[in-house]
Amino acid sequence: MELKHLPKAWKRGTDFLGTRYAIMCGAMTWVSESTLVAAISNEGGFGVLAGGNMPAELLAKEISDTREKTKNPFGVNLITVAPAFKQHIEVVIREKCPYVFFAGTIPSGKDIAEVKAAGSRVICFAPVLSLAKRLIKQGIDALVIEGNEAGGHVGPVATSVLAQEFLLNIREVPVFVAGGIGTGEIIAQYLSLGAAGVQLGTRFVAAEECVAHPRFKEAFIRAAARDAMPTSQFDPSLPAIPVRAIVNEGTRDFNRLQLTLLNQLKSGEITREDAMVRLEEFWIGALRRAVVEGDVEHGSLMAGQSVAFVKRVQPVREILDELVAGAEGALARIAGEN
Ligand SMILES: Cc1cc2nc3c(=O)[nH]c(=O)nc-3n(C[C@H](O)[C@H](O)[C@H](O)COP(=O)(O)O)c2cc1C
Repeated sequence: MELKHLPKAWKRGTDFLGTRYAIMCGAMTWVSESTLVAAISNEGGFGVLAGGNMPAELLAKEISDTREKTKNPFGVNLITVAPAFKQHIEVVIREKCPYVFFAGTIPSGKDIAEVKAAGSRVICFAPVLSLAKRLIKQGIDALVIEGNEAGGHVGPVATSVLAQEFLLNIREVPVFVAGGIGTGEIIAQYLSLGAAGVQLGTRFVAAEECVAHPRFKEAFIRAAARDAMPTSQFDPSLPAIPVRAIVNEGTRDFNRLQLTLLNQLKSGEITREDAMVRLEEFWIGALRRAVVEGDVEHGSLMAGQSVAFVKRVQPVREILDELVAGAEGALARIAGEN
């Protein structure tokens, strides 16, 4: 399809990423490995490896495997609170990875400076405008804003509100919008507001090239938007970060664990830090159980509300084509052409 409007509308994003499309597939633990990442980048999008929970040697291998499968740019996502975070930084520096994403918490100025000094571009997630401004001062190269509709760990604010707050106030660096994006038509709206591009996760889970278990994909195909719910925090003494997932027995396992840990915390059997680590370990293990082993009952089915737009298993090429056609058509309508 010949594109008339999109190349201009997302030029800042495509220039930054070095891609045909300013569409990123966000890192998804256990899901975003070399095959999916390379497929996204080969088809004109931008894949991001989920490095956060890997041992450092495996991360280095995944980077080199991805480089064998694509010559196009891709990113590496690191989680600042992961036990091996410091080793991960050493890996991305040694491997000269051109795009490094920091997720989890806000990275330190030192981490940003170290990775930038090695020649990488640093991309961060910012939950509030003031933190975004601080990160920009510290030299980050781009921002992702991710709304509450997204799959996985989520903040409290909707994508539509974050988009207005950030896109109307930040010009210094490209801003990519994530959370709840299922169609090209909505991509066009965020681009019109000033987004450089977008990041999707949930829609790419059902990609043919995605290694997730067929039962995991099937659960996404069956689910409606309202099935993907965030977990609740039972008590502020244990500040459990909400995780959005398709509700199943795994959700209830998480709730039971939270109650047990709260009791242990009250009786002094466990520290708050240890309890937080146990909660995060739960998610990593439960997600693996669902994605790798196909246990869709007790495993975690992390998914965004955009799961409503996952209708069947499709090749990455087809998903991107649909998104691009939808966005181009919407921009043409905005321009009054049809
Ligand atoms: C199964 C799953 C796992 C995820 N794991 C991570 C992760 O490890 N690191 C991260 O930064 N974001 C993670 N995310 C968030 C995605 O990168 C992306 O920002 C999000 O899916 C976008 O919203 P959407 O789900 O509505 O498309 C995950 C999302 C899903 C659905």
